[in-house]
Amino acid sequence: MKKKLTLFAAVALSLGATAASAGAVDELLQQYQTQGAGDFSAERGKQRWHEDHPDPEQPGKVRNCSSCHTNDFKAIGKHAKTGEEIDPLAPSVNKERLTDKKFIEKWLKRNCKWVIDRECTPQEKGDYLVFLRDQ
Ligand code: HEC
Repeated sequence: MKKKLTLFAAVALSLGATAASAGAVDELLQQYQTQGAGDFSAERGKQRWHEDHPDPEQPGKVRNCSSCHTNDFKAIGKHAKTGEEIDPLAPSVNKERLTDKKFIEKWLKRNCKWVIDRECTPQEKGDYLVFLRDQ
């Protein structure tokens, strides 16, 4: 009997963990809406992703989200500044992607500042996330 209970607890725990990680993007989307965002659009997210912004350090050059993550979300990216490798962003090939709210928020903040030279709005962040989670 004890063994059965332990097994049950283990299964329940692992189910709980899966549900929690699957919900990271959904939870953030809800949070962004309470901060004033409307409906999110993967199409807009895609456009924003490819949008060029002037590079403040290199006149005439531009920055966008692909500068480091490349246009192939299933491939390994390369940091535009440090040259370091970045694991594929696509959740379809990288199960760890978009599972941790704090990690997502931290990097959206940094990357928006680097690319757009300001923090992204809740609307912009949500559009990026609904686009990225389909990759
Ligand atoms: C200067 C290089 C660089 C640019 C440009 C860049 N990123 Fe990133 N991004 C990183 C690095 C480095 C990480 C963290 C390391 C990792 O996740 O492998 C990261 C992580 C992320 C994550 C976290 C993914 C996860 O696992 O949860 C998201 C989301 C993200 N970036 C979105 C964007 C968006 C949107 C843009 C455009 C506004 C962008 N990035 C532009 C370098 C960049």
